[in-house]
Amino acid sequence: MAGALAPGGEGWSSRTAFVLAAIGSAVGLGNLVRFPAEAGANGGGAFVIFYIFCVLLIGLPILLSETLIGRHGQGSAIESMKKVAIESRASSWWSLAAGVGMVGAFLILTYYSVLAGWIVHFIGIFAGDVAHAFASGGLAQGALQDLSVDQVQGLLPALQANSSEMLAMHAIFMALTIFFVGRGVSSGIEKVAVWLMPIFFILLIAITIYGAFTGSFGAALAFLFDFEPARLLDPSVQLSALGQALFSLSLGSALMITYGAYAARDINLAKTSVQIATADTSVAIIAGLAIFPITFAALAPASLTAILDGQEQVQGGLGLLFVNLPVAFQTMPAGSLIGLLFFIMVFFAALTSSVALLEASVSWAIGRFKQPRWLVTILLGGLAFLIGAWASFSFNSQADFQPFDFMIFSGQPVFGIIDELTAKILLPTSALLVAIFVGWIADRRLIDSENGLDGKLHRIWLFLVRWLCPLVISAILLTGLFPGLLGQG
Ligand code: PFF
Repeated sequence: MAGALAPGGEGWSSRTAFVLAAIGSAVGLGNLVRFPAEAGANGGGAFVIFYIFCVLLIGLPILLSETLIGRHGQGSAIESMKKVAIESRASSWWSLAAGVGMVGAFLILTYYSVLAGWIVHFIGIFAGDVAHAFASGGLAQGALQDLSVDQVQGLLPALQANSSEMLAMHAIFMALTIFFVGRGVSSGIEKVAVWLMPIFFILLIAITIYGAFTGSFGAALAFLFDFEPARLLDPSVQLSALGQALFSLSLGSALMITYGAYAARDINLAKTSVQIATADTSVAIIAGLAIFPITFAALAPASLTAILDGQEQVQGGLGLLFVNLPVAFQTMPAGSLIGLLFFIMVFFAALTSSVALLEASVSWAIGRFKQPRWLVTILLGGLAFLIGAWASFSFNSQADFQPFDFMIFSGQPVFGIIDELTAKILLPTSALLVAIFVGWIADRRLIDSENGLDGKLHRIWLFLVRWLCPLVISAILLTGLFPGLLGQG
């Protein structure tokens, strides 16, 4: 039976559809862009090891908490949380936890679509190059042969300077997101996941194998898994890993509550949570094993040695994907084709996440305003487009417009403010409230009947949700708000 009482009477058509859609929502730009960038900026191995611990001890327990609230509540994230609170004789104000997450998800969508638009732009560049390569006698030579290295490095800045191109790509991506969310849960959102996720996995494995044979695989392995034990204790590495675990598993953003509401009663949520977390973490690590061998192959040997010795940093941030990677493809065999496949793969991952980010607020608005799904989706998607468009001007005409020049926002234009506000404040706040609610407030029998756990595992889960998750997430929040606590100012 699908989630018959969920908003609009919708639900996943099968357990596989639920798992694929949830994995699709988790696997996104967070895995393919943010994870490698964060691993690069935080010295590789120590970050990766700490990240895995965070997924197991913090991410997984909260993932189960969120899906079970949704499945019990059978409504939008806010409605579900309210229902569980009322049945637990707690204040219905607890639904604010989901409200904060939902606002976070909506704001993330605004800039997510801008970034996904960049991916669409790069798909265009590489597709043009593949066509050109075929016309001029084959793919053997690298990519973008007509461009100098300087020009390839300039592709991203050129795009950022060109507002109309950025807006057009952002519009295409948002229109696609609206189209699939507007079609509904089983005929839109689920279809995207069921079709795109398998292709995504095949592309990821193929590109990783390609990187292993043509790139610097050994150096990438060393970078991702060797570490100085002292760095494990570095609080800024720990906090980056924690924040990334929440972001990557789509936690604290109302998404997993929303998707849980469409899940059938007979699905074992503990088991599916493990599957979702395992898939998401594997994708992040495999993505590292695809991206680093390729980018390392284009580095001078001295730079690579310096990176592996920890004396130099890998290019972090967006430059890794949009600058270093295209430069590497330029010198690699069949580089234009692999580059094209790579950006198509990232595009698929972004779309299965953006539909989830929009669905979180759409499902709430349908129930709240009793309006048809299409109308609500177009209005909310349109609003997210406008805010994203405004944020995209941060890369050119409004780079100096920094409306909140204080605390973690100082020196940030609108784009950065949305990123900081969501990743460092809204998501951790929502995840913290969910953990406190499930661990301490909600009715035990209700929780026990939904979570699919018994015996020792149940006790471990409860301990983590009650103690470890609130403590550790409070630490992220405090240090996010007051970076001076880390002693770095
Ligand atoms: N988890 C997805 C990603 O890593 O890209 C998308 C996402 C959902 C990011 C929810 C952040 C979030 F709060």
